[in-house]
Amino acid sequence: MSLAVPAPVRELHMRDADIRIFADQATLFAGAAAEFFRVVRESLASGRNCNVALAGGSTPKGLYQLIADKTAGDPDLRQLDWSRVHFFFADERSVPPDHPDSNYGMAKRSLYSRDTFLPANLHRVLAEKPPNAAAQEYENELLSHFGGAPEFDLIWLGSGPDGHTASLFPGTAALNETNRWVVENDVPKMNTTRITFTYPMLNAADEVMFLVSGPDKKDAIHSLLATSSDLPATRVRPRGNLFWYLDEAAAARLTA
Ligand code: 6PG
Repeated sequence: MSLAVPAPVRELHMRDADIRIFADQATLFAGAAAEFFRVVRESLASGRNCNVALAGGSTPKGLYQLIADKTAGDPDLRQLDWSRVHFFFADERSVPPDHPDSNYGMAKRSLYSRDTFLPANLHRVLAEKPPNAAAQEYENELLSHFGGAPEFDLIWLGSGPDGHTASLFPGTAALNETNRWVVENDVPKMNTTRITFTYPMLNAADEVMFLVSGPDKKDAIHSLLATSSDLPATRVRPRGNLFWYLDEAAAARLTA
């Protein structure tokens, strides 16, 4: 059973990004899943591991669940060498893994809800530790895993109404980090400190896919893609492909 890949209803190219717009959230997730499987197949066929960073928040839950279900139910997908596919987190909240806000917990309940992927390949941020220690230890794990500079095959990102991405929020210190790969970042407006990939990490990726859905994001998407704003998400300029995967509700203010 091959993955029925829905075509975008619109495709735009704006601000150096390829924008693929799908009719609704279900076809958005199916399109994003198909691109994930393409990246995995390409990486494994080249003899490399496939390293993917997960976006947090609520939007990607449905995508991760679809990937889990497709992989478990499709022999052609299930037979891929998933032992060589590793999942990391583009950011994490400063909470233990069993906390309802944990991105790791969200991924466990969705992407890891079936028995296909290796538990050891879901690389958790030790976010129960003090944020500076959690960030440093995650960076050390990444440097060890990659044997040097981390270059992800695919990084998924979301974006909030204020144009943040990962935990790179407007006006926060991590926006100015140019050396480290992972840092702790104080987010005063949320009264919290988070652990996040930095722009050096995001921009070293072979591919970055923003996944944005729903009408409450339409104004942010317009600001991010149809104006010359320099909101945090606009500073993600990966070495390779930059995709925005949107549904029509989120893309409502984008005209061809
Ligand atoms: C997080 C994410 C964050 C998220 C956006 C969109 O940990 O919350 O990294 O950047 O992607 O806030 O979140 P929603 O998908 O819930 O709208």
